[in-house]
Amino acid sequence: MTDLAVHVSHLTRRFGDFVAVKDVTFDVGRGEIFGYLGANGAGKSTTIRILCGLLAASEGEATVSGVDVVRKPDAVRQVIGYMSQKFSLYLDMTVQENLEFFGGAYGLFGKKFRLRRDAVSEELELAELGDRITGSLPGGLRQRLALACAVLHQPGIVFLDEPTAGVDPEARRMFWRLIRRLADDGTTIFVTTHYMDEAEYCDRVGLMVTGRLAALDTPGSLKETFVPGRMLEVRGASAEEVRQAADGLPLLGVEPFGAALHVRVPAPGPSANEVEGTLKRQGLAGVHVADAEVTLEDVFLTVVREDA
Ligand SMILES: Nc1ncnc2c1ncn2[C@@H]1O[C@H](COP(=O)(O)OP(=O)(O)OP(=O)(O)O)[C@@H](O)[C@H]1O
Ligand SMILES: [Mg+2]
Repeated sequence: MTDLAVHVSHLTRRFGDFVAVKDVTFDVGRGEIFGYLGANGAGKSTTIRILCGLLAASEGEATVSGVDVVRKPDAVRQVIGYMSQKFSLYLDMTVQENLEFFGGAYGLFGKKFRLRRDAVSEELELAELGDRITGSLPGGLRQRLALACAVLHQPGIVFLDEPTAGVDPEARRMFWRLIRRLADDGTTIFVTTHYMDEAEYCDRVGLMVTGRLAALDTPGSLKETFVPGRMLEVRGASAEEVRQAADGLPLLGVEPFGAALHVRVPAPGPSANEVEGTLKRQGLAGVHVADAEVTLEDVFLTVVREDA
């Protein structure tokens, strides 16, 4: 058990007749970046709030950093960091004042506080910002400050509930560099996101579908399991046109993907050139077919579809 940061077994949470989290079981290893994905309302925040001791479970077991959160929800708060979905910085206070406030909430004062503030400010690259009013900072910096406040007391695990929602791509990339840095220093990261490119940075990914954990594995294994075969990008035709023009091509899937289509065929099987040739012979003169990478978005669409 000591190498586990989180152990969840048959966890269920009901709100009246509605089951927000259904019989969920998983473990997270120490130092792991664990991504928790799912559509709006899938039960991600509900799970996190239970693991952070903020919401009672209806059924099941949950242990975080060795603390039984079902029986001792208050004890868990000292050993975790938590960045809530609507996070809790005081916008009218300076960066320094926010750090002091959150440090104080965890019993960090005086020299102990200053040492941690300086270490975290350096690690998360906030050092120059002490006097700035928090509300005047761009979103990406605010998010970094919220992360700093969540890890001031050096928790072994930090729960980040959509930490990069609404932040620009450059700031998101920066934020993930910092998350990786924290993980490399041994902090376990439990993070939710709607950005599939961010999910690629996770060591393992759990996919929640309407309260159930529908899949859990490394990004690479999820792709092999749920989206096997060769992925092709098709431009210049609609999904319907491709299906009709397939003429014996073994199509495993045809999905819109940005402005193009993701079309999946068996491997070994027809190459991109062969598929393009067939579609053209069937009258799709302007079609262009190229090899494409399988993404976690493809996985997500497949899992959600199989579930429905
Ligand atoms: N206190 C509550 N009372 C009743 N229903 C609730 C309560 N909290 C959450 N729910 C419901 O439980 C479901 C799961 O909510 P949750 O916030 O866990 O989803 P989520 O995966 O975090 O979604 P999002 O991506 O939108 O943040 C939703 O249908 C939500 O409306
Ligand atoms: Mg949520």
